[in-house]
Amino acid sequence: MSRSPALASAPGMEFGLADAEFRGLRDLIRKHTGIALHDTKRALVQARLGKRLRQLGIEGFPAYVAFLAGPDGPGEIRQVINAITTNLTRFYREPHHFEHLQHQALPYLVRERAATKRLRLWSAGCSSGEEPYTLAMTVLAGVPDIARWDARVLATDIDTEMVRTCKEGVYAAEQAEPLPAEWHRRHLSSTDRPDRLTVGDAARRLVTCKPLNLLDPWPMKGPFDIVFCRNVVIYFDHDTQVELFARIAAIMADDAWLYVGHSESLFRVAPQFKLVGRTIYRKTGTG
Ligand SMILES: C[S@@+](CC[C@H](N)C(=O)[O-])C[C@H]1O[C@@H](n2cnc3c(N)ncnc32)[C@H](O)[C@@H]1O
Repeated sequence: MSRSPALASAPGMEFGLADAEFRGLRDLIRKHTGIALHDTKRALVQARLGKRLRQLGIEGFPAYVAFLAGPDGPGEIRQVINAITTNLTRFYREPHHFEHLQHQALPYLVRERAATKRLRLWSAGCSSGEEPYTLAMTVLAGVPDIARWDARVLATDIDTEMVRTCKEGVYAAEQAEPLPAEWHRRHLSSTDRPDRLTVGDAARRLVTCKPLNLLDPWPMKGPFDIVFCRNVVIYFDHDTQVELFARIAAIMADDAWLYVGHSESLFRVAPQFKLVGRTIYRKTGTG
């Protein structure tokens, strides 16, 4: 395997990762997360888990694989998952989704749900929380008289470190730069550190952050009116995507919207949805 000199000298790369251990770790990761790692991700696994070996004082990957198979294995798998997930996100990512939500989906839902005044949104694979808090800000901008509504944004992720950050709701100031100026002013306040901002109470009140593996059974019942599942399934294989989107369709209201990532498509994956905009889907009601 060839590696760049920078990666070869990165922390954690001192532990060699042989084929057998890489395959074992890859199977374990796939079983627990749905993430199917290609051979090209070997250096990534080596670097990220190598750091963990160093923390534990374990002398090499064979011993680490044995550790994972032993009595401490179930707890340690949590660390493997947290190390392997890719958590890139930001506020107001893919603005056209939030514009569609504010100006098309929410006006419809405000009319259609006027009797119950119940709105449910789900950020499935929310990472550190910038997506669900942007959803909350969009609801605050798009639902007149929001105090009279029972509106909630569920934010879930498999990575427990990300869920912790989501609950804290404190971010590097540059993460929030893409937000419209008015939302920035209204929903983010300064902290005792000049480079950090905290999410205000109005948006926080709407959001609940919880750990959840999308492959596990789900405790919530729905129905959801809006689901964001963006940039989560990119490493899932086709069958896992088919199964996941069927479950997502089943927990959505018949007229609900689903938003996926910029490089994702439900073509030949989820017949329960029709494409209604750029990476925006609506349940067909036939699923
Ligand atoms: C690249 S981030 C996307 C964050 C956000 N949705 C966005 O688009 O900005 C992908 C997230 O999916 C989460 N994830 C990966 N596999 C998952 C699974 N099986 N269940 C729940 N979350 C998962 C990762 O932990 C990570 O935080």
